[in-house]
Amino acid sequence: MNKTLIISYTPRDNSNTKKMVDYFIEKNKRKTRITFLDLTEETPDLLLKENLNLYVNRNFGGMELNDEQHKILYKNDKMMNQLLATDFLVLASPMYNMSLPATVKAWVDAVVQAGKTFESTEQGPKGLCENKQALVLMTSGSDFGTEPLKSMNFATPLLTACFGLMGIPTEAINVFGIQQYPDIAEEMLETSKNEIELLSKKWY
Ligand SMILES: Cc1cc2nc3c(=O)[nH]c(=O)nc-3n(C[C@H](O)[C@H](O)[C@H](O)COP(=O)(O)O)c2cc1C
Repeated sequence: MNKTLIISYTPRDNSNTKKMVDYFIEKNKRKTRITFLDLTEETPDLLLKENLNLYVNRNFGGMELNDEQHKILYKNDKMMNQLLATDFLVLASPMYNMSLPATVKAWVDAVVQAGKTFESTEQGPKGLCENKQALVLMTSGSDFGTEPLKSMNFATPLLTACFGLMGIPTEAINVFGIQQYPDIAEEMLETSKNEIELLSKKWY
């Protein structure tokens, strides 16, 4: 059976993004083996002095780490290994301040690893993740689907670019404008469920 990793950051009570990810799980739980990573409970380590230097020295400089040093990178490495082990990837998150919540960005910083998920070549970076596909599920309060806000959406393009860097083609199902269009918010969420269903048929 194929494997799906769901990375979810939906801390708000009655989260709309959670409704989308719950629907995805309900539709597909019998068709794929799901691993659920709840980023509100298992949070990646921010890259600070100690772990950042170990990461750079290991991944770019080829330094062998001792057990103690491995332990320091263990949490983020585990998240990267989860990604390497999966066939499909679903990342669910709201938009915060036109971009990703810091916790989600920390997950991106944990899994985009030189020599593991991408490599640098003379032609530029090359993805090392083969035969994977990703889906981004995102909601926002304002309408980032049309201008003038569309070009200020740094959330989904950032994820698409980082997954692309690792060689993972990505699709996004966005519900943009939940607070801006309260009268049709429910309808927009229902439409997103149809899109999730279509994508699920394509994947599984
Ligand atoms: C800290 C924070 C920052 C936010 N920043 C934005 C933003 O930049 N643009 C926007 O349209 N909505 C923004 N919102 C609104 C959320 O993206 C929106 O309400 C979303 O649907 C929340 O998802 P949830 O229901 O899963 O919590 C922000 C909300 C919070 C709590």
